[in-house]
Amino acid sequence: MRTRNLLRWVPGLTPLLQRLEARERENHLLLAECQRLAYENYRLKSPRRDRPAPRPDDEPPLPPELLRRWVAGTDDAAWFLASGQRAATMLTALLHRHGIRLEESTHLLDFGCGCGRVLRHWRHTPAQLHGCDANPLAIEWCADHLPFARCTVNALESPLAYDHDSFDVICAFSVFTHLPQPLQQHWLDELHRVLKPGGVLLLSLHGDALLPELSWAERADYRAGRLVVRLPGLAGTNHCAAFHPPACVRAMLTPRFEILDFLPQGATGNPPQDAWLVRKK
Ligand SMILES: C[S@@+](CC[C@H](N)C(=O)[O-])C[C@H]1O[C@@H](n2cnc3c(N)ncnc32)[C@H](O)[C@@H]1O
Repeated sequence: MRTRNLLRWVPGLTPLLQRLEARERENHLLLAECQRLAYENYRLKSPRRDRPAPRPDDEPPLPPELLRRWVAGTDDAAWFLASGQRAATMLTALLHRHGIRLEESTHLLDFGCGCGRVLRHWRHTPAQLHGCDANPLAIEWCADHLPFARCTVNALESPLAYDHDSFDVICAFSVFTHLPQPLQQHWLDELHRVLKPGGVLLLSLHGDALLPELSWAERADYRAGRLVVRLPGLAGTNHCAAFHPPACVRAMLTPRFEILDFLPQGATGNPPQDAWLVRKK
């Protein structure tokens, strides 16, 4: 990106750079479709009825490589396990700092749980565990392999299938990082609706640490406190990337949430994302 920023100043290169960026957008679209097809293909070769039913206490298996790459951006198995554990531990410790004990919470929702990278590490928590995601294939895997959690699919923009005031704790690890502006608002409203009064929400977001990744125009927007969104047409996939300046996050949250904590780069299971912990007013 730095080289690209410099090339913008070379006379005559702008049209070429614009073509390059258009090609990159097409590549992202194609890649997103290839990932979906590759996993569909894997499912055809591995029908659900052949899989043994897991027992609640079993260590869950690793999701297939294709699914890990699709959801987590890497198929590195050691990273999948260690980073998921870090995210789960980070949230437990952060809640503890605010006098909230996860083990005393009765209902926890992992919004955008993907293939359960974090959820799997709470399997011994007495809380009733829920996960939801817009990716039906990831949820299918969770439903088949994470019997301790109730996992459901939601649409990219829809109400959730939960009653008002259902959850003590909701986490959304690297989900708002892939949503364009209108969906940010929609999902904040919806998570607010399903949180109990006084319930808490953890968001992990791309913040200042990602500034070097932004183009100069994007940086100007970011520095002016505006949300920066790349490839909004691929909303909900990892190809769409949203960058949240802290001022913009505060403006989005404060009308209905109390900000309990803001930890720059504090989402240690989703580095180098910021962690925001807020309470429903
Ligand atoms: C980068 S992955 C993170 C997955 C998981 N939270 C983790 O940390 O491993 C982003 C996840 O958000 C999900 N997602 C994106 N938009 C969503 C939406 N509107 N509703 C539910 N899930 C969504 C994606 O399908 C994907 O599984």
